[in-house]
Amino acid sequence: MTASDFVPFAYSNEVANGKITWKSPSNIALVKYWGKKENQIPANPSISFTLDTCATTTTIAYRKLEEEGNEFSFDLLFEGKPKDSFRPKIMTFFKRIEKYLPFLKSYHFTIETSNSFPHSSGIASSASGMSALSLCLMSLEKELYPEMSAEYFNRKASFLARLGSGSACRSIEGNLMEWGLHGETDGSSNEYAIKYPYTIHKVFTNYQDTILLVDKGQKQVSSTVGHELMHGHPFAEQRFLQAHNNLTKLQLVFANGNLNEFIEIVESEALTLHAMMMTSLPYFILMKPNTLEIINKIWAFRELSKTHVCFTLDAGANVHVLYPEAEKEIVYQFIKNELVAYCENGQYICDAIGYGAKKM
Ligand code: DP6
Repeated sequence: MTASDFVPFAYSNEVANGKITWKSPSNIALVKYWGKKENQIPANPSISFTLDTCATTTTIAYRKLEEEGNEFSFDLLFEGKPKDSFRPKIMTFFKRIEKYLPFLKSYHFTIETSNSFPHSSGIASSASGMSALSLCLMSLEKELYPEMSAEYFNRKASFLARLGSGSACRSIEGNLMEWGLHGETDGSSNEYAIKYPYTIHKVFTNYQDTILLVDKGQKQVSSTVGHELMHGHPFAEQRFLQAHNNLTKLQLVFANGNLNEFIEIVESEALTLHAMMMTSLPYFILMKPNTLEIINKIWAFRELSKTHVCFTLDAGANVHVLYPEAEKEIVYQFIKNELVAYCENGQYICDAIGYGAKKM
């Protein structure tokens, strides 16, 4: 499917008003998306675990206008209160997707959204937020065109979410989502994410992710600025190639469950993401001293305990601690005893692999 397949022909139904709610999760990338081309096309393929607990719930109430407006008409509420600072983001998003959802100017929308995770926890809400909103809009489109297949619904929801925020396209389904053209993955696409189509060893079906909130402050580098830094970056081409290769290597690991290989690829991806930011111009160090303390503790404990705990990072100081469910007891004890002390106000979130967004 290409972008033009998502431009609808004619709708078969009229809808005056209604209300839709979706709860959509966040996701954590194993092979990172970092660098993009025009129209939110990723510079390299990425793959992520869909999360379960970290999620955004979005309700849209829609009412057909007497006459189609010249502008988009919407109200925004975040955690029950008007949130004007989100307006420009939604405006840009609506402009980008109008071609694919031609009914957008025919309705007034009241968009209400809330997150399951603490506000300004440094956890990216764009993936869960943009995917939840896209799913709500797709539910309305499905009412206008009830013949729509479930496959088209999910594909287009992912496609729209990508136009809102790249990583959001990987939040529609679970448990392992791949986005971006990859020679070794049938059906992979730059336009939307797909469910990982090959064998997944059972060790990965209930993986745990404990998110350590090391720094809850405002992000030092927005992802928009971050992706921009990959243009003209001296190591960019090499990095993009590495992502392709890591994805190919992971396919084997997903099939055979080799956790030592898994750890090597995942930690290397996290450190490479940060290395890219340290070696760009301007350059940034997004880790904090406590991020490094945690990484060193994880390495020491892994060696000592012979467990398979490892870490990954987003574009910030927080640490995602990943481990198999079978090692939950011992690793969780270690996290509480030795790592929580490095979190801001001792805050962390226990999450695990999830199975995608749900209509409420
Ligand atoms: C480091 O999806 O937030 O989390 O497309 O500009 O909205 P935009 O970027 P965004 O980038 C996320 C980057 C990352 C890695 C990843 O999730 O793959």
